[in-house]
Amino acid sequence: MTVKIIIGTQWGDEGKGKVVDYYAEEADYVVRFQGGNNAGHTIHIDNEVYKLHVIPSGVIQGKTGVIGNGVVIDPEVLIDEINKLRERGIKPRLMISDRANVIMPYHKILDGVEEEQRGGRKIGTTKRGIGPCYSDHAARLGVRICDLINKKRLQEKLDIIIPIKQRILDAYNIKHDLDKKEILEAYTRYGEKLAPYITETHIILQEALRKKKNIILEGAQGTMLDVDYGTYPYTTSSHTIAGGACIGSGIPPRSIDEVIGVVKAYTTRVGEGPLPTELKDNTGKHLQEKGHEYGTTTNRPRRCGWLDLVVVRYACNLSGVNSIALTKIDVLTGLPRVKICVSYNLNGKKLMYPPASINDMEDVKPVYKELPGWGSINPDAKRLDELPGNAKKYIAFIERELKTPIKLVSTGPKRSQTIRV
Ligand code: IMP
Repeated sequence: MTVKIIIGTQWGDEGKGKVVDYYAEEADYVVRFQGGNNAGHTIHIDNEVYKLHVIPSGVIQGKTGVIGNGVVIDPEVLIDEINKLRERGIKPRLMISDRANVIMPYHKILDGVEEEQRGGRKIGTTKRGIGPCYSDHAARLGVRICDLINKKRLQEKLDIIIPIKQRILDAYNIKHDLDKKEILEAYTRYGEKLAPYITETHIILQEALRKKKNIILEGAQGTMLDVDYGTYPYTTSSHTIAGGACIGSGIPPRSIDEVIGVVKAYTTRVGEGPLPTELKDNTGKHLQEKGHEYGTTTNRPRRCGWLDLVVVRYACNLSGVNSIALTKIDVLTGLPRVKICVSYNLNGKKLMYPPASINDMEDVKPVYKELPGWGSINPDAKRLDELPGNAKKYIAFIERELKTPIKLVSTGPKRSQTIRV
């Protein structure tokens, strides 16, 4: 039995979907523990491409997908995702935590309104209602999945919540009347559709631990989007580091065997906020085009830059990463020289970890190590020694700096384009 947590070590979009899919072959359960449909995981199998937002990637391989209590669920999106998989012949084996919070229509409206109110300091959210839903969870004003399967109880909750939300919309001068009856009917219908999947997932997972099953806890977003450890306030609203996996799934910390940190060979970010190694030149364009760096969820172009080991070092320490999965090394092919950020300079002071203050993070200057580039990579290489010498040097440098073994190298989007070290 193993329980593995797979997390992103940068700003999300590290290629976790592919890595989870790769390890899922050995898993019985694949569990999402935070985030919602702000995430987007792209999985390429043979000539098929699957894009998932809420459902854990492992369901494509027939594994049981679990949506844990730490996830926020937009039921309309989830039902649509289930239907789309069914249309393609995949009947997802899915379990949804009865404790997960529900994204309601007013969350989506407020996500947009609150962004507007920030003026020049917008977060650049995915506008899926994620932040307002997590806010209500902490404020104890949330609707939970278990509430959707009991109309009377849902009505009692909405009787309290809707007038509060209406007052907030009115205060923002938003001309939108929240129709309690309409919301009650729609969300009761969603509850009926989702009812077969709703269960006490934490109890089922704890039972699976006793039966020595293999479990993967699949992170969404990345460490620098963690609400405490990321570039706050330019973060998402959940805990994306390994610590969040236990809270968001009900699996106790002592059951975790391994933490895999997914590192993309360069850096990307969607939305606003500091990105110290950002490249606004032709090299940035090269990474964006060759890496197809456009958001799976919002289709926004991702900002691109050199690999930032200050960020990855911090992520590995925060999550206790035992091994690294390095992705998209092929995208760097063709660049004459490649750079890796090893520390920051903040007004003459050397920093090995990102600072807490967003203003300091905006002011840091990356300190680079420069390495020679490589001409081409055999995308079907099965062993590390089939890679060009300079690519191997790049990989060895990362491993040395992070003092963590690289156990998997991805050389292309397909499942077959993976080197297990
Ligand atoms: P939210 O999660 O929609 O509130 O967005 C907050 C920030 O997290 C924004 O900068 C988003 O672009 C970013 N974000 C949210 N989900 C993802 C993701 O899956 N990948 C990359 N960035 C994300």
